Amino acid sequence: MPQAGLEIDNVSKRYGDVVALSDMTFEVRPGELFGFVGSNGAGKTTTMRIALGVLAADSGEVRWAGEPITLSTRRRFGYMPEERGLYPKMKVLDQLVYLARLHGLSVNEAHRSAEDWIARLGLKARREDEVQKLSLGNQQRVQLAAALIHDPSVLVLDEPFSGLDPVAVDVMSQVLKEKTAAGIPVVFSSHQLDLVQRLCDRVGIVDKGRMVACGTVDELRAGAPADLIVHAPQAPPGWAAGIPGVSVVSEEDGRTVLRAGDDVDDQAVLKAALATGPVHEFSRRRPALTELFRNVVTEEGVR
Ligand SMILES: Nc1ncnc2c1ncn2[C@@H]1O[C@H](COP(=O)(O)OP(=O)(O)OP(=O)(O)O)[C@@H](O)[C@H]1O
Ligand SMILES: [Mg+2]
Repeated sequence: MPQAGLEIDNVSKRYGDVVALSDMTFEVRPGELFGFVGSNGAGKTTTMRIALGVLAADSGEVRWAGEPITLSTRRRFGYMPEERGLYPKMKVLDQLVYLARLHGLSVNEAHRSAEDWIARLGLKARREDEVQKLSLGNQQRVQLAAALIHDPSVLVLDEPFSGLDPVAVDVMSQVLKEKTAAGIPVVFSSHQLDLVQRLCDRVGIVDKGRMVACGTVDELRAGAPADLIVHAPQAPPGWAAGIPGVSVVSEEDGRTVLRAGDDVDDQAVLKAALATGPVHEFSRRRPALTELFRNVVTEEGVR
């Protein structure tokens, strides 16, 4: 049996009358990069805080490697909290050494690890600067270093990519990939769905405190109707309106996007297109994660 990773099992949480999580369930497998997406207020941060034990669940359980999480296993977690948690007046190097020491590293190990991550994350020129004097993106790099300083066995990162420049996005992506390649389960939340689609092994879409879709991007796409792209320059407007099972998504300059269920006979659509004149393009396009997200997350989902 494959080793268990980080399991969030039927976790529920209320704040007074607000149901923040109801039966939230998913697993981040060892060596897997898991993208956690959802509207503002969907429950991502609450889930991550509960996984870290910063917040207690009303019910349900979080397990790692098959065991309920304890104080000592929690020390093996690397966490980037949403509210960030650096000491503004402390210098970058001192900050990282201090955090490493808190995690039980010796003075020498703490210095070595801090210097390694400072170099790796392009912070050498900033190592003697107070954290508060750094730009937002550089503070975030320090925050990533803080999450990694003790060589954690699990990584939980709340919106690590927000506010990063494209170079820092690449560095962050590279580091996360390295960690998963070393067999570590990594979960991060993000609103940058293109990035999530590109990077993640699996994705979980959360809506109103529940996991509403979970799987590889391809699995999620397979469950959604594919769009048909038809380029028929001479087709009159509305040419596809009467085809059974097909709805028109957009129609512009002879290029029509049609939403068609998998049971729709695409050859019938092609015939209808050919009846209008030449067809220059006819293809199926699986929806991007952004579209899947819109399909499963309703406007009312925003809290
Ligand atoms: N301390 C709190 N007191 C009361 N309600 C809270 C508290 N923290 C969160 N909530 C509520 O719990 C729900 C889930 O919030 P959460 O912060 O987990 O969402 P999120 O998915 O992280 O959103 P975002 O994308 O905006 O970061 C929301 O309705 C929020 O208002
Ligand atoms: Mg959040």
